[in-house]
Amino acid sequence: MTEPTTRQRESGSAHKRVFIQTFGCQMNEYDTAKMLELLGRERYTRVDRPEGADLILINTCAIREKPEHKVYSLLGRLEGLKRRHPETVIGVAGCVAQQDGEKILKRARNVDFVFGTDNLFDLPEMLARVAEGERFARTQWRPPKAPVENFIPPEAIPGLTPGSADAAAPAPVKAQLAIAKGCNNMCTFCVVPYTRGREVSREPDNILQEAAALVARGAKEIMLLGQNVNSYRAQGVDFVELLHRLNGLPGLERIRYTSPHPKDFNEPLARAHRDLPKLCEHLHLPFQSGSDRILRAMRRNHTIAEYLEKLAVARELVPGLALSTDIIVGFPGETEADFEATLNVIRNVRFDHLYAFKFSPRSITPAAELPGQVPEAVKAERLSRILALHQANAQAANDDMIGSRQEILVEGAHPRDPNSRMGRTRGHKSTKIPGCAAEPGALVTVEIVAARKFSLVGKVQGDG
Ligand code: 5AD
Ligand code: SF4
Repeated sequence: MTEPTTRQRESGSAHKRVFIQTFGCQMNEYDTAKMLELLGRERYTRVDRPEGADLILINTCAIREKPEHKVYSLLGRLEGLKRRHPETVIGVAGCVAQQDGEKILKRARNVDFVFGTDNLFDLPEMLARVAEGERFARTQWRPPKAPVENFIPPEAIPGLTPGSADAAAPAPVKAQLAIAKGCNNMCTFCVVPYTRGREVSREPDNILQEAAALVARGAKEIMLLGQNVNSYRAQGVDFVELLHRLNGLPGLERIRYTSPHPKDFNEPLARAHRDLPKLCEHLHLPFQSGSDRILRAMRRNHTIAEYLEKLAVARELVPGLALSTDIIVGFPGETEADFEATLNVIRNVRFDHLYAFKFSPRSITPAAELPGQVPEAVKAERLSRILALHQANAQAANDDMIGSRQEILVEGAHPRDPNSRMGRTRGHKSTKIPGCAAEPGALVTVEIVAARKFSLVGKVQGDG
């Protein structure tokens, strides 16, 4: 594909093109969706390559060093494009933007504007300023509005503003919905409290409205998002009560949430998994380390025994509950014995999914300054031991599912086999269904006939 000429761009001025590159977590994906909704009203359409775009946005992640590097290397790669097309506007959003602000403008001369995680709803206004020749970084926190704050303005919720251009645009089968933002926990390794600010919960009615609008546009599953999602509380409604309300939403089939904190995981929440038909039998509960000494240094506010007790309660109340977790290896001071304690937890719990990361010192967090930083080679070796153990566990957990009946939410065709469909079980296991022609969004019951390490194969039951 060749780049459009300036003339072609001008003649197409009714519509502008935006390219967005998103790094990081689901909250960033959600923010990207919101930016696209706002830009849709400004007559932007999304394109999948930076070449030829009028606006390039990079939604950045600062959780570890690697995603942060990717941002600066992408900006480096865009230098040539900006030289050839100085009229292309480049904006940097997200967590690196919040953390580095003005520094990005100094380091990357091709960037026109930088905006933080609390500023994305000013996007149309910021673009107007850029059009007037301003170059700026905007990373101020919005003044808190006690006791709750609807940080998603109604104009960014398609379907709530009748007649808006994208009111009828289809929602993904699996939609995301932020119910809270920020985090007050201050785990010593984590940038989130600095890049996403203090914790704020959204008003429950506003959440239900957005959920209803998503379902009206075709969403079947909603993933509730929050950095510490289960400490949600607004207008006297806590997380469990919010789940009950969402469970009553007609047309919604499945509810999930991420990420909860163990200290706020309680029996009422476990019971909600048992009692609410739409709340999936899947719990992602990060434990980070199996050593109490390390958990204390991480400031996680719980012991490993407390964590395991909560899992035991949840497993007892919810038969077949799928479990997943996050782990950090090589936190400062982590000895071989501490690491063995982490391996033991994995061995005993047998998680269905596991996300393990090498500790990455983030300069604005206390853990970056702690003594006993672990050499990179040791971190890498520990990570590979975790992954080897988990792979064996995951295969065994999947093997156990052979012969069981599972409900699959169909997401679409298999990428390499158009005669098969892909979807997930309620426990979030990726499942291939050969010889199935169901539309995305359909619920199909299958019998599991084969199991791989990270996926299942299901045979449609009945004449499906
Ligand atoms: N280094 C490595 N992993 C981290 N995480 C958060 N901060 C860091 C860091 N500095 C991991 C945690 C968290 C997940 C989202 O990312 O395991 O649960
Ligand atoms: Fe980061 Fe999660 Fe800890 Fe909050 S609870 S500081 S988001 S790891």
